[in-house]
Amino acid sequence: MQLKNMSLLQTQLYINGQWQDAATSRQFAINNPADNRHITDVADGAGDDTLAAIASAKSALPAWKSKTANERAIILRRWYELMMDNQDDLATILSTEQGKPLAEAKGEIAYGASYVQWFAEEARRIEGDIIAPPSNDKRLMVIKQPVGVVTSITPWNFPNAMLARKAAPALAAGCTFVAKPASETPLSALALAVLAEEAGIPAGVFNVVCGSDSAAIGQAMTDSPSVNKLSFTGSTAVGKNLLAQCATTVKKTSMELGGNAPFIVFDDADIEAAIAGLMNSKFRNAGQTCVCTNRVYVQSGIYDQFIEGLTSAMKALKVGPATESSVDIGPLIHRKAVDKVQELIDSAIANGAVLSYQAKLEEMGSNNFYPPTLLTNVGPEMAICQDEIFGPVVAVQRFNDEEDAVAAANNTEAGLAAYFYTQDIARTWRVGEALEYGIVGINEGLISNAMAPFGGVKQSGFGREGSKYGLDDYLEIKYLCLGGLA
Ligand code: SIN
Repeated sequence: MQLKNMSLLQTQLYINGQWQDAATSRQFAINNPADNRHITDVADGAGDDTLAAIASAKSALPAWKSKTANERAIILRRWYELMMDNQDDLATILSTEQGKPLAEAKGEIAYGASYVQWFAEEARRIEGDIIAPPSNDKRLMVIKQPVGVVTSITPWNFPNAMLARKAAPALAAGCTFVAKPASETPLSALALAVLAEEAGIPAGVFNVVCGSDSAAIGQAMTDSPSVNKLSFTGSTAVGKNLLAQCATTVKKTSMELGGNAPFIVFDDADIEAAIAGLMNSKFRNAGQTCVCTNRVYVQSGIYDQFIEGLTSAMKALKVGPATESSVDIGPLIHRKAVDKVQELIDSAIANGAVLSYQAKLEEMGSNNFYPPTLLTNVGPEMAICQDEIFGPVVAVQRFNDEEDAVAAANNTEAGLAAYFYTQDIARTWRVGEALEYGIVGINEGLISNAMAPFGGVKQSGFGREGSKYGLDDYLEIKYLCLGGLA
């Protein structure tokens, strides 16, 4: 991999400001999903390395939380600037290990950096309260203090942004941090550690432990009494296990878990805008995001026109490796992901779905690519409507009635993101309020940004990332009662 700044390409663990091998000296391989080529080997951290990182975060905590909010803000601002100064290199690392097209990877670096910028600013706005007392000899006050040592486990679909949007509010609040990036994509996290050091983040405040045994690292994090919080983004199944593990030490947690996003297009929608919105929300990162549209509901009056427009938009998509500049869709993360998408499609077709369109792919450098695919005549009982597809597949159902569409959209255990298109202002409010989701895109397919609260309800988890609410997840509320004032 060729970078302007080769020091960003690190392969060791970053603990207490030191680059080091795993305690076992073992390494594991990182491959490029576009051609399955070996990129490099990375230190294979495990439980002992995690405990060392937690110990360093614990000893760095008193000094970091004693800094003024302004001092922390200045350091975080510098980290943001360095991320943007190194945007091209960070994007190259990201797309090489993850597969997303280079332009999209650059977008992710700016997206991740925007959380660091946002929380550098929010660091100065940690405010308490004075409460009217029940008697005149007392004064009641509320202050907010950092939670303490925070650990994170982040996924491979956004190797930069998911980490940045946890680390930035934690550090802004005065917490110290141990990151466990996905084993498929540790290089982006290690590059962030290089820039963290350059920005002046002191040793021990931000640590990265990568490793192939995620369960062992997770267990060390959840068992440790020195860890005050775990913030996780990933599947609902893994989130449930981590929650159960955190129960033994009653840790604070934030859980950004799986989604099953409905996308409803009403007869009164602007059809072109709805197609554009669906293309954005479905095909971002080859369909591999938790907020990607999973189920599409189209009202009967515009159904044929919508499918026709959608098919021609899908025909224009170009699939290929990240290095080709005109590419819209890269490979899926690995072959297992391709097989899972294929199984969902096969099972839907066996149960009556119709394969309305599937792109023909040229021979690629690996067999991890999946063609953009359109399924119609899909039914709610099909696995494709219940599991997260995590691939470039649009699964469409037809509906007649608003109430039925909303009921169908809500008929899932997930509650992360939902989308709908209408030009009727009363319907906008009615449906917006009725959808049981943490995020609702109305006439909009791209809903993620640092200013807005990202998070789900139901089994999509809890906690909010970004926005003015995002710091709360890393702060404890303390009530001070001052008595004897009579
Ligand atoms: C995710 O897939 O978990 C995050 C997507 C986003 O931030 O938009």
